Amino acid sequence: MHSSKLYFTLAFLFVSAMFSNAAYNITTPGTGVVWNATEAVQVLWTGTDEPEVDVNLLYGPADNLTLFAVLCSNVSSSLGECNYTVDPSIPSGINYAVSVGKLPEAYSYSSYFTIQTANPLPANTGCLNNGGYNCTQTLPCCSASGYCGATDAYCGTGCAPQFSFNGVCSVPPPPAPPSSKF
Ligand SMILES: *[C@@H]1O[C@H](CO)[C@@H](O)[C@H](O)[C@H]1NC(C)=O
Ligand SMILES: *[C@@H]1O[C@H](CO)[C@@H](O)[C@H](O)[C@H]1NC(C)=O
Ligand SMILES: *[C@@H]1O[C@H](CO)[C@@H](O)[C@H](O)[C@H]1NC(C)=O
Ligand SMILES: *[C@@H]1O[C@H](CO)[C@@H](O)[C@H](O)[C@H]1NC(C)=O
Ligand SMILES: *[C@@H]1O[C@H](CO)[C@@H](O)[C@H](O)[C@H]1NC(C)=O
Ligand SMILES: *[C@@H]1O[C@H](CO)[C@@H](O)[C@H](O)[C@H]1NC(C)=O
Repeated sequence: MHSSKLYFTLAFLFVSAMFSNAAYNITTPGTGVVWNATEAVQVLWTGTDEPEVDVNLLYGPADNLTLFAVLCSNVSSSLGECNYTVDPSIPSGINYAVSVGKLPEAYSYSSYFTIQTANPLPANTGCLNNGGYNCTQTLPCCSASGYCGATDAYCGTGCAPQFSFNGVCSVPPPPAPPSSKF
């Protein structure tokens, strides 16, 4: 679950914030959702790019999302739902996300959401809706609405430098062109 492919897919989701090129549109869970211990919850999505999909629970920073549990295995994508009863042994956290898809390159990702079980939730000292983490190099700017990204929409008005990479809100330069001897 640590491939750069996964990272860039997730990065795209957060950058686009529109899910436009993602195979599935995960409508819940997402920002602001809290899953409580032993509660019956649902993952809902639209999109039928593959006949069957797996629904995974992930945690960790966007550049190193780690599989926590498979919530539903090989369900029909057109069903658009995965029912799950929240395991009370999951540690409380604000850095959970779900993925929907069969082939990893087709995975789509939710925004970060919260799981609340017995232990207290950690304080959020990062960019507001970024799982408690500050923004990192690839998506350096913490936007006014608390998401990390690399465009003017994130780095411009309202960007929070204190939660942005290197403490500054600046759109990263495009990659340098290959150098030439002539
Ligand atoms: C995804 O779902 C959201 C909320 O239902 C909707 O606003 C958005 O347009 C959808 N995006 C796509 C690409 O289907
Ligand atoms: C979990 O509990 C909180 C606080 O009681 C509540 O706001 C939230 O809606 C619950 N989550 C779900 C999925 O019902
Ligand atoms: C990625 O996360 C896993 C599990 O949390 C951790 O063991 C590993 O050290 C992390 N890798 C990096 C490069 O941070
Ligand atoms: C998933 O389900 C389909 C249709 O029900 C089946 O043909 C396929 O073998 C299943 N794949 C796995 C990995 O279980
Ligand atoms: C999921 O739960 C809902 C509401 O409890 C129920 O109506 C639905 O049939 C369930 N879906 C599956 C696939 O079990
Ligand atoms: C985010 O950066 C601020 C300083 O700007 C720091 O106080 C805070 O601890 C950082 N949060 C995390 C999760 O690293």
